[in-house]
Amino acid sequence: MAKERVYIYKQYERFWHWTQAFLVLFLALTGFEVHGSFTFFGFEAAANLHNKAAWAFIILTVFTIFWHFTTGEWKQYLPTTKNLKAQAEYYIFGIFRNAPHPTRKTVLVKLNPLQRLVYLSLKILVFPVMVFSGLAYMFYRYQSNSTIHSLEVGSLERIAWTHSLGAYILIAFVIVHIYLITTGHTISSNLKAMITGWEELETDDAARKDKDPLKPQKEVVTNQPKNEAEKST
Ligand code: HEM
Repeated sequence: MAKERVYIYKQYERFWHWTQAFLVLFLALTGFEVHGSFTFFGFEAAANLHNKAAWAFIILTVFTIFWHFTTGEWKQYLPTTKNLKAQAEYYIFGIFRNAPHPTRKTVLVKLNPLQRLVYLSLKILVFPVMVFSGLAYMFYRYQSNSTIHSLEVGSLERIAWTHSLGAYILIAFVIVHIYLITTGHTISSNLKAMITGWEELETDDAARKDKDPLKPQKEVVTNQPKNEAEKST
Protein backbone atom coordinates (compact mmCIF):
# COMPACT_ATOMS: atom_id res chain seq x y z
CA MET A 1 0.00 0.00 0.00
CA ALA A 2 1.44 3.35 -1.06
CA LYS A 3 1.80 6.02 1.60
CA GLU A 4 1.86 9.76 1.32
CA ARG A 5 3.03 12.36 3.88
CA VAL A 6 0.13 14.73 4.51
CA TYR A 7 -0.07 17.93 6.59
CA ILE A 8 -3.19 17.04 8.54
CA TYR A 9 -3.20 19.08 11.79
CA LYS A 10 -2.62 22.83 11.49
CA GLN A 11 -0.63 24.88 13.99
CA TYR A 12 -3.57 26.34 15.92
CA GLU A 13 -5.29 22.96 15.95
CA ARG A 14 -2.28 21.35 17.63
CA PHE A 15 -1.89 24.26 20.08
CA TRP A 16 -5.57 24.03 21.02
CA HIS A 17 -5.50 20.23 21.35
CA TRP A 18 -2.47 20.09 23.66
CA THR A 19 -3.47 23.14 25.72
CA GLN A 20 -6.94 21.67 26.19
CA ALA A 21 -5.45 18.29 27.14
CA PHE A 22 -3.18 19.93 29.71
CA LEU A 23 -6.01 22.06 31.14
CA VAL A 24 -8.43 19.11 31.42
CA LEU A 25 -5.80 17.06 33.28
CA PHE A 26 -4.89 20.00 35.51
CA LEU A 27 -8.58 20.74 36.20
CA ALA A 28 -9.08 17.07 37.07
CA LEU A 29 -6.05 17.08 39.40
CA THR A 30 -7.06 20.27 41.23
CA GLY A 31 -10.81 19.46 41.04
CA PHE A 32 -10.43 16.05 42.67
CA GLU A 33 -8.29 17.61 45.37
CA VAL A 34 -11.13 20.06 46.06
CA HIS A 35 -13.44 17.03 46.02
CA GLY A 36 -11.30 15.56 48.83
CA SER A 37 -9.91 12.59 46.89
CA PHE A 38 -6.28 13.36 47.85
CA THR A 39 -3.97 16.16 49.02
CA PHE A 40 -1.34 17.59 46.69
CA PHE A 41 -1.38 21.41 46.52
CA GLY A 42 -3.48 21.85 49.67
CA PHE A 43 -7.22 22.62 49.50
CA GLU A 44 -7.00 26.41 49.21
CA ALA A 45 -4.25 26.40 46.58
CA ALA A 46 -6.06 23.66 44.63
CA ALA A 47 -9.30 25.70 44.61
CA ASN A 48 -7.42 28.82 43.45
CA LEU A 49 -5.54 26.95 40.72
CA HIS A 50 -8.76 25.24 39.63
CA ASN A 51 -10.43 28.62 39.16
CA LYS A 52 -7.49 30.05 37.20
CA ALA A 53 -7.28 26.98 34.94
CA ALA A 54 -11.07 27.13 34.45
CA TRP A 55 -10.82 30.71 33.13
CA ALA A 56 -7.94 29.69 30.84
CA PHE A 57 -10.12 26.81 29.58
CA ILE A 58 -13.03 29.20 28.89
CA ILE A 59 -10.78 31.66 27.00
CA LEU A 60 -9.25 28.80 24.96
CA THR A 61 -12.75 27.50 24.17
CA VAL A 62 -13.91 30.91 22.90
CA PHE A 63 -10.90 31.19 20.56
CA THR A 64 -11.34 27.60 19.43
CA ILE A 65 -15.04 28.05 18.60
CA PHE A 66 -13.99 31.07 16.50
CA TRP A 67 -11.27 28.98 14.77
CA HIS A 68 -13.69 26.13 14.01
CA PHE A 69 -16.19 28.43 12.33
CA THR A 70 -13.73 30.64 10.45
CA THR A 71 -11.82 27.65 9.01
CA GLY A 72 -14.88 25.47 8.34
CA GLU A 73 -13.33 22.74 10.52
CA TRP A 74 -16.64 22.44 12.41
CA LYS A 75 -17.85 20.33 9.49
CA GLN A 76 -15.47 17.56 10.61
CA TYR A 77 -17.80 16.94 13.55
CA LEU A 78 -21.04 16.51 11.59
CA PRO A 79 -22.36 13.16 12.81
CA THR A 80 -22.94 10.30 10.39
CA THR A 81 -24.21 6.75 10.79
CA LYS A 82 -22.28 5.65 7.71
CA ASN A 83 -19.77 3.01 8.79
CA LEU A 84 -20.53 3.69 12.44
CA LYS A 85 -21.26 0.01 13.12
CA ALA A 86 -18.19 -1.09 11.14
CA GLN A 87 -16.01 1.29 13.17
CA ALA A 88 -17.44 0.05 16.49
CA GLU A 89 -16.95 -3.57 15.39
CA TYR A 90 -13.39 -2.74 14.41
CA TYR A 91 -12.60 -1.42 17.90
CA ILE A 92 -14.30 -4.37 19.63
CA PHE A 93 -13.15 -7.26 17.40
CA GLY A 94 -11.22 -6.29 14.24
CA ILE A 95 -8.39 -4.50 15.99
CA PHE A 96 -7.44 -7.72 17.81
CA ARG A 97 -7.43 -9.70 14.55
CA ASN A 98 -5.28 -7.24 12.62
CA ALA A 99 -8.23 -6.30 10.40
CA PRO A 100 -7.79 -3.21 8.19
CA HIS A 101 -9.17 0.12 9.44
CA PRO A 102 -12.77 0.32 8.22
CA THR A 103 -12.48 4.02 7.34
CA ARG A 104 -9.68 6.09 5.88
CA LYS A 105 -8.30 9.36 7.21
CA THR A 106 -7.96 12.40 4.92
CA VAL A 107 -7.44 16.11 5.49
CA LEU A 108 -11.11 16.75 4.85
CA VAL A 109 -12.31 13.72 6.82
CA LYS A 110 -10.00 13.45 9.82
CA LEU A 111 -12.46 11.78 12.15
CA ASN A 112 -14.04 8.36 11.84
CA PRO A 113 -17.82 8.12 12.50
CA LEU A 114 -17.34 7.10 16.14
CA GLN A 115 -14.86 9.90 16.82
CA ARG A 116 -17.28 12.41 15.28
CA LEU A 117 -20.03 11.31 17.64
CA VAL A 118 -17.84 11.29 20.75
CA TYR A 119 -16.06 14.59 20.04
CA LEU A 120 -19.33 16.31 19.12
CA SER A 121 -20.87 15.12 22.41
CA LEU A 122 -17.88 16.53 24.28
CA LYS A 123 -18.19 19.86 22.48
CA ILE A 124 -21.93 20.40 22.74
CA LEU A 125 -22.73 18.51 25.93
CA VAL A 126 -19.92 17.62 28.34
CA PHE A 127 -17.80 20.82 28.05
CA PRO A 128 -20.83 23.17 28.26
CA VAL A 129 -22.11 21.24 31.32
CA MET A 130 -18.66 21.54 32.94
CA VAL A 131 -18.33 25.25 32.14
CA PHE A 132 -21.85 26.22 33.26
CA SER A 133 -21.93 24.02 36.37
CA GLY A 134 -18.39 25.24 37.16
CA LEU A 135 -19.41 28.90 36.78
CA ALA A 136 -22.51 28.31 38.89
CA TYR A 137 -20.27 26.67 41.49
CA MET A 138 -17.78 29.57 41.33
CA PHE A 139 -20.33 32.35 41.80
CA TYR A 140 -22.47 30.40 44.25
CA ARG A 141 -19.43 29.95 46.44
CA TYR A 142 -17.48 33.13 46.11
CA GLN A 143 -20.02 35.91 45.75
CA SER A 144 -21.51 37.75 48.71
CA ASN A 145 -24.54 36.33 50.48
CA SER A 146 -27.04 38.55 48.69
CA THR A 147 -25.86 37.55 45.19
CA ILE A 148 -25.82 33.85 46.07
CA HIS A 149 -29.59 34.06 46.38
CA SER A 150 -30.01 36.12 43.21
CA LEU A 151 -28.27 33.41 41.12
CA GLU A 152 -31.12 30.97 41.78
CA VAL A 153 -28.99 28.03 40.69
CA GLY A 154 -30.58 25.53 43.03
CA SER A 155 -28.65 23.75 45.73
CA LEU A 156 -24.87 23.62 45.75
CA GLU A 157 -25.17 19.87 46.13
CA ARG A 158 -26.89 19.51 42.77
CA ILE A 159 -24.25 21.70 41.07
CA ALA A 160 -21.40 19.76 42.68
CA TRP A 161 -23.00 16.46 41.68
CA THR A 162 -23.42 17.54 38.03
CA HIS A 163 -19.89 18.96 37.89
CA SER A 164 -18.38 15.82 39.44
CA LEU A 165 -20.31 13.52 37.08
CA GLY A 166 -18.92 15.51 34.13
CA ALA A 167 -15.43 15.16 35.63
CA TYR A 168 -15.79 11.34 35.80
CA ILE A 169 -17.01 11.26 32.18
CA LEU A 170 -13.99 13.34 31.12
CA ILE A 171 -11.57 11.07 32.98
CA ALA A 172 -13.15 8.02 31.29
CA PHE A 173 -12.81 9.80 27.93
CA VAL A 174 -9.11 10.58 28.56
CA ILE A 175 -8.35 6.93 29.41
CA VAL A 176 -10.10 5.57 26.29
CA HIS A 177 -8.59 8.36 24.17
CA ILE A 178 -5.03 7.50 25.27
CA TYR A 179 -5.62 3.84 24.38
CA LEU A 180 -7.09 4.72 20.98
CA ILE A 181 -4.14 7.02 20.19
CA THR A 182 -2.06 3.85 19.94
CA THR A 183 -4.36 2.22 17.37
CA GLY A 184 -3.20 4.14 14.30
CA HIS A 185 -1.22 2.59 11.45
CA THR A 186 1.68 2.32 13.88
CA ILE A 187 1.57 2.60 17.66
CA SER A 188 2.90 6.18 17.58
CA SER A 189 1.60 7.51 14.25
CA ASN A 190 -1.44 9.32 15.70
CA LEU A 191 0.62 10.88 18.50
CA LYS A 192 3.38 12.04 16.12
CA ALA A 193 0.77 13.56 13.80
CA MET A 194 -0.72 15.67 16.60
CA ILE A 195 2.79 16.83 17.60
CA THR A 196 4.24 17.60 14.16
CA GLY A 197 1.09 18.10 12.09
CA TRP A 198 2.29 15.55 9.52
CA GLU A 199 1.06 12.02 9.06
CA GLU A 200 1.72 9.21 6.60
CA LEU A 201 -1.61 8.24 5.10
CA GLU A 202 -2.40 5.39 2.77
CA THR A 203 -2.94 6.00 -0.90
CA ASP A 204 -3.35 3.52 -3.66
CA ASP A 205 -4.23 3.98 -7.27
CA ALA A 206 -7.19 1.63 -7.13
CA ALA A 207 -8.64 3.55 -4.22
CA ARG A 208 -8.31 6.86 -6.06
CA LYS A 209 -11.23 5.87 -8.24
CA ASP A 210 -13.57 5.94 -5.24
CA LYS A 211 -13.91 9.38 -3.73
CA ASP A 212 -15.79 8.49 -0.54
CA PRO A 213 -13.30 8.56 2.38
CA LEU A 214 -15.76 7.09 4.85
CA LYS A 215 -15.47 3.82 3.02
CA PRO A 216 -12.35 1.66 3.37
CA GLN A 217 -9.17 2.16 1.37
CA LYS A 218 -10.13 5.23 -0.61
CA GLU A 219 -8.31 8.21 -2.07
CA VAL A 220 -6.31 10.46 0.25
CA VAL A 221 -7.08 14.12 -0.23
CA THR A 222 -3.79 15.92 0.11
CA ASN A 223 -4.19 19.50 1.05
CA GLN A 224 -0.61 20.26 1.90
CA PRO A 225 0.30 23.89 2.60
CA LYS A 226 2.32 25.49 -0.16
CA ASN A 227 4.16 27.84 2.19
CA GLU A 228 4.79 28.55 5.88
CA ALA A 229 2.09 31.24 6.11
CA GLU A 230 -0.55 28.72 5.06
CA LYS A 231 0.67 26.22 7.70
CA SER A 232 -0.04 28.59 10.54
CA THR A 233 -3.71 29.31 9.71
C1 HEM B 1 -14.23 25.78 32.68
C2 HEM B 1 -14.68 24.81 33.32
C3 HEM B 1 -14.72 24.67 34.84
C4 HEM B 1 -15.09 25.56 35.81
C5 HEM B 1 -15.57 26.99 35.62
C6 HEM B 1 -14.93 24.90 37.08
C7 HEM B 1 -15.17 25.44 38.33
C8 HEM B 1 -15.16 24.75 39.52
C9 HEM B 1 -15.38 25.32 40.84
C10 HEM B 1 -15.65 26.78 41.12
C11 HEM B 1 -15.29 24.32 41.74
C12 HEM B 1 -15.42 24.47 43.26
C13 HEM B 1 -14.09 24.78 43.85
C14 HEM B 1 -14.22 25.08 45.30
O1 HEM B 1 -15.02 24.45 45.99
O2 HEM B 1 -13.50 25.96 45.77
C15 HEM B 1 -15.00 23.11 41.03
C16 HEM B 1 -14.87 21.87 41.61
C17 HEM B 1 -14.53 20.73 40.92
N1 HEM B 1 -14.16 20.65 39.59
FE1 HEM B 1 -14.31 22.12 38.24
N2 HEM B 1 -14.47 23.63 36.86
C18 HEM B 1 -14.31 23.47 35.48
C19 HEM B 1 -13.86 22.37 34.83
C20 HEM B 1 -13.54 21.17 35.42
C21 HEM B 1 -13.03 20.02 34.74
C22 HEM B 1 -12.69 19.97 33.25
C23 HEM B 1 -12.88 19.03 35.68
C24 HEM B 1 -12.38 17.64 35.55
C25 HEM B 1 -11.98 17.06 34.47
C26 HEM B 1 -13.35 19.56 36.94
C27 HEM B 1 -13.40 18.86 38.11
C28 HEM B 1 -13.87 19.34 39.31
C29 HEM B 1 -14.08 18.54 40.50
C30 HEM B 1 -13.89 17.04 40.63
C31 HEM B 1 -14.51 19.43 41.50
C32 HEM B 1 -14.90 19.04 42.94
C33 HEM B 1 -16.40 18.89 42.97
C34 HEM B 1 -16.93 18.59 44.36
O3 HEM B 1 -16.51 17.65 44.98
O4 HEM B 1 -17.79 19.31 44.84
N3 HEM B 1 -13.72 20.87 36.76
N4 HEM B 1 -14.91 23.40 39.68
